[in-house]
Amino acid sequence: MSVMQEMMTIVSQKEVAKSIFEMVLTGKMVDELGDAGQFLHLKVPVEGMLLRRPISISSWDKEKASCTILYRAGDETTGTYALSTLTAGQKLDVLGPMGHGFPVSDIKSGEKIVLVGGGIGVPPLYELAKQLNQQACDITVLLGFASENVKILEEAFAKLQHVKVKVVTDDGTYGQKGHVGILMNQLDFEPDAVYSCGAPAMLKAVYQKYEGLDRLYISTESRMACGVGACYACVIHTKDDPDGKSGHTLKVCEDGPVFKGGEIVL
Ligand code: FAD
Ligand code: FES
Repeated sequence: MSVMQEMMTIVSQKEVAKSIFEMVLTGKMVDELGDAGQFLHLKVPVEGMLLRRPISISSWDKEKASCTILYRAGDETTGTYALSTLTAGQKLDVLGPMGHGFPVSDIKSGEKIVLVGGGIGVPPLYELAKQLNQQACDITVLLGFASENVKILEEAFAKLQHVKVKVVTDDGTYGQKGHVGILMNQLDFEPDAVYSCGAPAMLKAVYQKYEGLDRLYISTESRMACGVGACYACVIHTKDDPDGKSGHTLKVCEDGPVFKGGEIVL
């Protein structure tokens, strides 16, 4: 899987929840997609906005040569807002696929897998769930959102044969009120592997709950500039060098965004 730059074509774009947009893109890059959890680095179609925006790949369809991203558009001054104004047929300058995604090669059929997603961290877990579903794993998806009006992908997960989905919202407008920690504590089995993507506080809770698990994978976010390991904008500290004094740091863009739970400081 090599990184390429391509003017991809927008197949569709729609608002699927409050200020959250689903964009479907088509291009040769789709052939290169393989690992769920990788991201695309999108050039914002505004002069002067030089930094690309990292957005996770939510799913792909190789037969249609298309891939889907979901992203939250900020206010009118932001690059993501500019992206949200694009329409079907327009081109978008895309670098990708970037980074290392969620490892699945050692997952076996029938294993109990838990996916924990929060807010706009949920999208990359969908392609992962599709892949694990094909391996007939026993998949439990725990999702947390601020409110019902920003809930995404629940129905898509639920359509997968081997997936059970549970949802909480911070304000109780949908599902149980609270955060995904409640759902983790309600599980009546020990998972064989856990995959997670979401806000730092949620990732910390997942780490604390499943610290001893060998196959615990966490997708992190950080501000990025180059996206290819050259600028050190996205450095993250490691467990064996928590304050970075020994210079043993990792880069989210190149070494991540997915890391093993015990590898990094959250
Ligand atoms: P602006 O304020 O215009 O951004 C200014 C600068 O800050 C830009 O360079 C921008 O990239 C950077 N920046 C601001 N906030 C963040 C942030 N939280 N993370 C990284 N850079 C930031 N968001 C989604 O909605 N959907 C996704 O699937 C998604 N996947 C991501 C995957 C990765 C690996 C990373 C690192 C981030 C991901 N994000 C995702 C967060 C998204 O990249 C930021 O929300 C977005 O870049 C903010 O840009 P903006 O134009 O809205 O804000
Ligand atoms: Fe430049 Fe990661 S964004 S090194």
